[in-house]
Amino acid sequence: DWTMKAFREEEIERIRAKVGKGKVICGLSGGVDSSVAAILIHEAIGDQLTCVFVDHGLLRAGEAEQVVTLFRDHYNIPLVHVQAQDMFLDALAGVSDPEVKRKTIGRLFIEVFEQEAKKIGGAEFLAQGTLYPDVIESVSFTGGPSVTIKSHHNVGGLPERMNMQLVEPLRELFKDEVRKLGYELGLPEIFVGRHPFPGPGLAIRCPGEITREKLDILRKADAVYLDEIRKAGLYDKIWQAFAVLLPVRTVGVMGDGRTYDYACALRAVTSTDGMTADFYPYDMAFLGRVATRIINEVRGINRVTYDITSKPPGTIEWE
Ligand code: XMP
Repeated sequence: DWTMKAFREEEIERIRAKVGKGKVICGLSGGVDSSVAAILIHEAIGDQLTCVFVDHGLLRAGEAEQVVTLFRDHYNIPLVHVQAQDMFLDALAGVSDPEVKRKTIGRLFIEVFEQEAKKIGGAEFLAQGTLYPDVIESVSFTGGPSVTIKSHHNVGGLPERMNMQLVEPLRELFKDEVRKLGYELGLPEIFVGRHPFPGPGLAIRCPGEITREKLDILRKADAVYLDEIRKAGLYDKIWQAFAVLLPVRTVGVMGDGRTYDYACALRAVTSTDGMTADFYPYDMAFLGRVATRIINEVRGINRVTYDITSKPPGTIEWE
């Protein structure tokens, strides 16, 4: 793609000019955005770059191992895998407000990045795969609507004070452009085709207060749902799909017994940039299959609903 070829070269020059001989930490999530950012920056400055993958305890089943293995298999870029589950989950205990959750997560991400920066002898720059829609939806423009929908940003909401300067080579691009750039950079399909996953992870798919128990239940339901989506050959037709664990218990019956367990919602949308989205029109047989499997296989859930809200007025994530 001619445009992306030019973009690649210009951006490499820009990164070099900004960073000079400085060191850069890049927060890697395993999604296409941060992977593309990392590879572009690596092309620009080589071993001045260190990637950091933070396991904040809010990842999906098997995700940390998958991302770290995949990245190490494909790239010869130093990658630090930080185990920070307790740090994040302890700080989030008792917190139920969505923006407080996001800001707490954003602050802790930065703390982890600053710690890792120290370990490599100081890094002046923090790189993120922030895209144009992330910027728009987090910022209040003068003259525009003066309301922040959500504190987006890749890590979920950056603190006001931070020691590192941001490097965000993708902040003028939309998702489809990043995917093109990914192909241009030779990124394997398995990275390029991945559904987006938000920095705050499962925290914003578990409305209200998060507990380790709820996260475990959510992980299992989400894994079953995605398994069925893949089996039905629907993964690439959908922008993003995930389960949400609702903070409500409902009464059910299983065998001869009464159950009183959580309800979960399934979400799936189509979109081209994440700014607007339509719910995915599954056939009922598919939804029935997923519901039966979740209720049979996931202890703690006895009811499954499908979210048929488009964006707007709903957002894609629940918080
Ligand atoms: P919403 O829920 O705002 O989401 O309609 C639009 C897209 O952005 C993703 N998202 C995030 N991505 N950090 C991210 O890296 C965040 O804090 C964040 N919040 C939402 C969401 O998954 C969807 O693809």
